[in-house]
Amino acid sequence: MGWLLPLLAAVFACNVFALQIPLFRDRLDSLEEDHTRAVTAFKLRHVFHHGTGINASLHRRLDVAETPAFETAPELFYLSALSKNVTRLSQRDPDFMESYLAYTRRPGSIKISGFDWIHERVRTPNISDPETLATLARMTADAYVGVPASKDWIDVGAPFNESLGFGWDNTGVRGHIFTDDANRTVVVAIKGTSSTLFDNDGDTVTNDRINDNLLFSCCCARISYMWTTVCDCYEKSYTCSQTCLEDALYAEDKYYRALLDIYRNTTSLYPSATIWLTGHSLGGSMAALLGRTYGVPTVAFEAPPERLAAERLHLPFPPVPANESTIWHVGNTADPIFMGVCNGPSSVCWVGGYAMETQCHSGLECVYDTVKDKKWHVSANNHRIKAVIDMIAGYNNTPTCVARTDCQDCFDWTFS
Ligand SMILES: *[C@@H]1O[C@H](CO)[C@@H](O)[C@H](O)[C@H]1NC(C)=O
Ligand SMILES: *[C@@H]1O[C@H](CO)[C@@H](O)[C@H](O)[C@H]1NC(C)=O
Ligand SMILES: *[C@@H]1O[C@H](CO)[C@@H](O)[C@H](O)[C@H]1NC(C)=O
Ligand SMILES: *[C@@H]1O[C@H](CO)[C@@H](O)[C@H](O)[C@H]1NC(C)=O
Ligand SMILES: *[C@@H]1O[C@H](CO)[C@@H](O)[C@H](O)[C@H]1NC(C)=O
Ligand SMILES: *[C@@H]1O[C@H](CO)[C@@H](O)[C@H](O)[C@H]1NC(C)=O
Ligand SMILES: *[C@@H]1O[C@H](CO)[C@@H](O)[C@H](O)[C@H]1NC(C)=O
Repeated sequence: MGWLLPLLAAVFACNVFALQIPLFRDRLDSLEEDHTRAVTAFKLRHVFHHGTGINASLHRRLDVAETPAFETAPELFYLSALSKNVTRLSQRDPDFMESYLAYTRRPGSIKISGFDWIHERVRTPNISDPETLATLARMTADAYVGVPASKDWIDVGAPFNESLGFGWDNTGVRGHIFTDDANRTVVVAIKGTSSTLFDNDGDTVTNDRINDNLLFSCCCARISYMWTTVCDCYEKSYTCSQTCLEDALYAEDKYYRALLDIYRNTTSLYPSATIWLTGHSLGGSMAALLGRTYGVPTVAFEAPPERLAAERLHLPFPPVPANESTIWHVGNTADPIFMGVCNGPSSVCWVGGYAMETQCHSGLECVYDTVKDKKWHVSANNHRIKAVIDMIAGYNNTPTCVARTDCQDCFDWTFS
């Protein structure tokens, strides 16, 4: 077992999932002078924090303009947009979508067909633009920056029972809400709040790990008899209860449910805005699930493959060729978590207690071939958002985004 320790130490040292990123102000200044592209400036306006697990009733909002803790002038983020044809459900308000999801999860529910899909022109991020991609990555990095546990947070859900304590700022899900000056477009950057993927100490990470193992494993992370499972759906050898899995994913105390609340509150603040979602890692997978739920453009960075979770949650898949999706998964070939190869007893994921078994992303994959182009070695270091920001800056173009059709998850399992 001696080899495990140096490996873990290396992983701890690189702080795989959490980084305090310096602001790239010099880069921004040169952007301000660039009049060749039509770009819009975005500012951070609010931060939502939603509890999970035993704190699932916690839901708070911090308004940046009202918060002395944000003393410095807000950073501006410049994004280029273009208009695209998008096919999505014609009715998409939160009340409808949540009752739709609840219905399709009922055992024996008839698969609803003949849905009312519409094609519409929607403003989307210009993902062919390297600066826009890099800026979105910086916005997701911004979501990692600690937000003060100040008293300026406003309860937007049920009043939180303070006697439960104040550990909430380290757990749960956060949504950082950016808008342009006219509030025409709103960017929501989503973050799961554990400090590192492989950080084993304390409660804070346990919850992220439970969510990861629910979302990205075949059957409750029962990958060997030594593992503690995260749900109780295993029936017998390579057989797992589908209904049980679906209920576990949708449970009130889990991340997906928390995201639906953050989306609902964001759209009620900006009812006529176009919403874009982004996120890194687990936050990217969650952004993709939420983006699919509501048919909104989503850019996920280095997200573990989430198509299986989308299917288990019965999210709507529009009846159009996969290449027309507006869910973009940006990643690189040297990141084992994005590539779906961080599994098996010798992987850092397994060692850290993560069962990352899934292989398939939904939507489009925009893959930087850093192994070939930059001679990077496959390592969890290349999963970090800082590595991604540097990587995008090191290329003149963004990769072509493609829908993979040759992908299958958990083929050796039977779901009953
Ligand atoms: C978008 O859809 C409209 C109507 O269906 C069509 O006329 C147009 O050519 C489409 N544009 C693109 C870029 O596909
Ligand atoms: C999208 O970005 C590319 C690359 O920067 C640029 O050439 C193109 O003009 C942009 N499209 C729009 C509509 O701004
Ligand atoms: C708050 O939590 C404490 C401890 O669990 C409990 O005794 C109390 O009844 C709770 N108060 C409310 C208003 O739920
Ligand atoms: C819930 O909040 C308590 C304190 O308020 C904190 O110590 C704990 O880590 C949180 N647990 C989860 C699972 O969010
Ligand atoms: C945009 O929303 C902010 C609240 O975040 C508000 O202060 C501002 O007045 C709004 N701007 C416009 C043009 O509606
Ligand atoms: C915000 O979310 C909470 C659930 O956490 C919900 O009860 C409330 O109605 C939402 N508020 C708005 C304005 O959407
Ligand atoms: C998607 O692929 C089809 C052929 O399979 C092609 O005709 C169509 O133009 C593609 N659409 C986009 C948006 O790339």
